[in-house]
Amino acid sequence: MTGSKKKILVTGSSGLIGSEVCIHFAGLGWQVHGLDNNQRAVFFGPQGDTRWNQNRLASQLGSSFHHHELDIRDRSGLLQLLKEIKPDAVVHTAAQPSHDRAAAIPFDDFDTNAVGTLNMLEAVRQACPESPFAHMSTNKVYGDRPNTIALVEKETRWDYGDPQYYDGITEDFPIDQSKHSLFGASKVAADVMVQEYGRYFNMPTCCLRGGCLTGPNHSGVELHGFLSYLVKCNLEGREYKVFGYKGKQVRDNIHSHDVASFIDAFITTPRTAEVYNIGGGRANSCSIWEAFKLVEEISGKEQIFKYVDENRIGDHICYISNLEKMRAHYSGWDITISLKETIRQIVEAMEKRG
Ligand SMILES: NC(=O)c1ccc[n+]([C@@H]2O[C@H](COP(=O)([O-])OP(=O)(O)OC[C@H]3O[C@@H](n4cnc5c(N)ncnc54)[C@H](O)[C@@H]3O)[C@@H](O)[C@H]2O)c1
Repeated sequence: MTGSKKKILVTGSSGLIGSEVCIHFAGLGWQVHGLDNNQRAVFFGPQGDTRWNQNRLASQLGSSFHHHELDIRDRSGLLQLLKEIKPDAVVHTAAQPSHDRAAAIPFDDFDTNAVGTLNMLEAVRQACPESPFAHMSTNKVYGDRPNTIALVEKETRWDYGDPQYYDGITEDFPIDQSKHSLFGASKVAADVMVQEYGRYFNMPTCCLRGGCLTGPNHSGVELHGFLSYLVKCNLEGREYKVFGYKGKQVRDNIHSHDVASFIDAFITTPRTAEVYNIGGGRANSCSIWEAFKLVEEISGKEQIFKYVDENRIGDHICYISNLEKMRAHYSGWDITISLKETIRQIVEAMEKRG
């Protein structure tokens, strides 16, 4: 039976987005091949360990799921795997995902994000060039240029003062001549390469420039996974550090389920060399203070925090993704999970995991 099933290869399958995509496609009857080497634990230590999520996939998906313990920096290993599986679709989520961490490990960051993505693209081109390739990019490709948009200070958040940006930042926003962090720069290299394999080789690729991607299955750490880490601190009574901008910095948060359903829409009706800003949009945006309040309401616990009067280098003051292009190209897709419900699910999952 498995021979007739469609096959998908998901890199970073033990991570937040990768695991959600695995579950989504297994639910649609696909044979799922996950690739992950738990590198998140190397990047962030035991708190970033994703083995629990790999085990969850194995027990939940049974024979529909095959785990491949492979590093995306292993060029020949990837080529061999791609030629062996010849997947009908590829979703690339494996990455070093933290801009602060990248400065300490510049080679590991670039080798993973930029070169690892090139390894994947070339292996796909050689093994299955017709298969849609969805790549998780990031809003950090815009560097800190979003901070040049005129802002207004409100009671609990910063907001765009320029009405052109009310619904958020669109995909034609400039990506260069701003400060990116080394992480942002390695992700720009990957993003442009994914577009190039689309344009130059006519492969069905897309870059999804994520805002804050979140959900109950994130292994949140201080350096990555905003809401997941914030909830973890709240539940454990641990101090959460707020870095600058008066705690009014705004993030737009999208549940991993809504990311997976967009990837499904793209794979079903692929386009070439596309770029989408994928986040929660204005409706699912919040500042850090607003996030504290929402989490406190749901968990019933007070958020302990410390304010540090220095922002993270290149951190966005207010970032909201404009979702219009996604909605226009894929009219059946929209955000289905509210910010409040997302936080409720994160709280519930963390209480369950202990
Ligand atoms: N979570 C967010 O807020 C966010 C925002 C914007 C963009 N993104 C992007 O989305 C993607 C997925 O993010 P996530 O939050 O699911 O990350 P995650 O860290 O939860 O998952 C990534 C997975 O990739 C694996 N991995 C890392 N390096 C690897 C390597 N060299 N070989 C094999 N596996 C490796 C890790 O072990 C981890 O399980 C990343 O590309 C990230 O940059 C995430």
